[in-house]
Amino acid sequence: MDNNDLHSVVFQRKSIRKYDLTPLADSTMAEITEFVRSLQPLDATIKTAMKFVSQTEVHHNLLRIKAPHYLVAFSENKAGYLTNIGFMLQQLDLFLSAKGIGSCWQGIPRPTNEVRASSELEFVIVMSFGMAKEPLYRNSIQEFKRKPLDKISNTIGLDDLLEPVRLAPSATNSQPWFFTGDHRLLHAYCVKTNFLKALIYEKMNQVDMGIALYHLWLAAQVAGNSVTFGQNDEAKANPPDGYYYICSVESG
Ligand SMILES: Cc1cc2nc3c(=O)[nH]c(=O)nc-3n(C[C@H](O)[C@H](O)[C@H](O)COP(=O)(O)O)c2cc1C
Repeated sequence: MDNNDLHSVVFQRKSIRKYDLTPLADSTMAEITEFVRSLQPLDATIKTAMKFVSQTEVHHNLLRIKAPHYLVAFSENKAGYLTNIGFMLQQLDLFLSAKGIGSCWQGIPRPTNEVRASSELEFVIVMSFGMAKEPLYRNSIQEFKRKPLDKISNTIGLDDLLEPVRLAPSATNSQPWFFTGDHRLLHAYCVKTNFLKALIYEKMNQVDMGIALYHLWLAAQVAGNSVTFGQNDEAKANPPDGYYYICSVESG
């Protein structure tokens, strides 16, 4: 499977919430495990760990989606760690979808104390996966409920890069991203939330930003451009109204 395969599913994928609870074949799990070992970070200086667990190792609550497998993501808590996890796990979301396996980011469920204690790193988020008991793909772009491009960017002529960003999944489908700049240097911003909302959404929004940045990275790769991520003081000091700075994307 290559970047073209992953990029193709950006235009079809959807969150899967109904699963066949039969565990995946060992050979399939081995392939998924190998892919997870190869996940590319946005910031390689941040320590992360991934653990596969079963249904009984994720706390039961009314909102929990029952799936045969869950990936639990842990990370060192340092600047950019939530965005880094978003960037990494979105690779798995697309890989699973491309392999015909359903998945769903899970911002609410938490793994058991034992699972959380099994890593010295901070628990960040869970992703459920397994064979879907509902259609795996959307039939057309129109089935995505998303903001139009001009609400997520004021750039001109970058539709090929930003359409995959527009279609990215986000917690409660909030689509917190905004991009400014041009084809050489793009700046990524995240919406500011009020105090009450921030308690719940601030962390998830930063995970969402990593998901969007992975879709952007993938679109650039497929178009034959490589992009690098960094910090830009001027862009940081001048966010659009209602947004704060995450990072900049340099083409080169
Ligand atoms: C960080 C994050 C957390 C999420 N948490 C949940 C969750 O707890 N429960 C759920 O059913 N869906 C969850 N989702 C799925 C979103 O609701 C979904 O991605 C969004 O509505 C867009 O739909 P789509 O993924 O089908 O395109 C989450 C998505 C993200 C990115």
